[in-house]
Amino acid sequence: MAALASLAVFVFTFSSSAITPARAAEALPLHKSHEAFGYENDTTGPANWATLQKEWAICGDGKRQSPIDINKVEPQKSKTPLMLTYKPGAATMQNRGHDFMLKWKDGNGKLTIEGKEYTLQQVHWHEPSEHTINGTRFEAEMHMVHEDPSKARAVLSVLFSTKAGLPSKLLTEMGPYFKNLAGKENGEEQVKQPVDPTTWLDKTSGYYRYDGSLTTPPCTEGVIWTIMSKIADASKEQIDVFKSVTKRVEPNARPAQKLYDRIVRFYEA
Ligand SMILES: *[C@@H]1O[C@H](CO)[C@@H](O)[C@H](O)[C@H]1NC(C)=O
Ligand SMILES: *[C@@H]1O[C@H](CO)[C@@H](O)[C@H](O)[C@H]1NC(C)=O
Repeated sequence: MAALASLAVFVFTFSSSAITPARAAEALPLHKSHEAFGYENDTTGPANWATLQKEWAICGDGKRQSPIDINKVEPQKSKTPLMLTYKPGAATMQNRGHDFMLKWKDGNGKLTIEGKEYTLQQVHWHEPSEHTINGTRFEAEMHMVHEDPSKARAVLSVLFSTKAGLPSKLLTEMGPYFKNLAGKENGEEQVKQPVDPTTWLDKTSGYYRYDGSLTTPPCTEGVIWTIMSKIADASKEQIDVFKSVTKRVEPNARPAQKLYDRIVRFYEA
């Protein structure tokens, strides 16, 4: 009963936009080679990712890389609410060394963009945020990674701020798992209850959309980014938990990449 009740379906209309996803060749999980790259200003840092492996060259010469600073946006006239059908599902939490990842066993509902369905695969968190808004970096960013049958990806992103000092409900729910896995690289734990991300997104928020890439090597392009325009609350304690991912205290945010000729569209709620 409870499961049925929370299988909320937000049905929305869709108008066209100019984003056409390219095919992404790699299979999930992302961050396969996470021992091989880092975030510090050294030989394995973001400025050198392109040189670490031949397949990672696009990290350096790609013209549609993520993250970006979101500043100039093109407001869209037609209402295009997000079309999501998430549901509760069995999931495991993993410490991947650079981040925590919650992975659903069998995908977990869909995000539909221009008639194409992308299945939710996993969620992970960056601290601080990777995307910035008019130069402002936030304390954390959640990436909900979706994939279609051809392996094209769409990522839904939520930025978190500690400004209001209010805890995040979803981070509270996941808190015990973050704590258990803190410092345990490659550690994994089954989440006791089915995890339902239906309530994780603020339905009163608009969103930004642009054509980008994975934010970690291999930096594959053709990823449709959707970033919620309302910033979510989190407490300082909740953000501090992300700092405990590795024994070293290391931020895991790639710096902003050049926009080139891309347009960031803004869809109001
Ligand atoms: C990275 O290190 C180089 C050399 O030490 C320095 O010139 C540069 O300013 C540093 N960049 C950042 C972003 O810290
Ligand atoms: C960034 O600032 C400019 C100038 O104040 C404003 O026009 C623009 O809407 C802002 N962008 C975002 C994404 O808030």
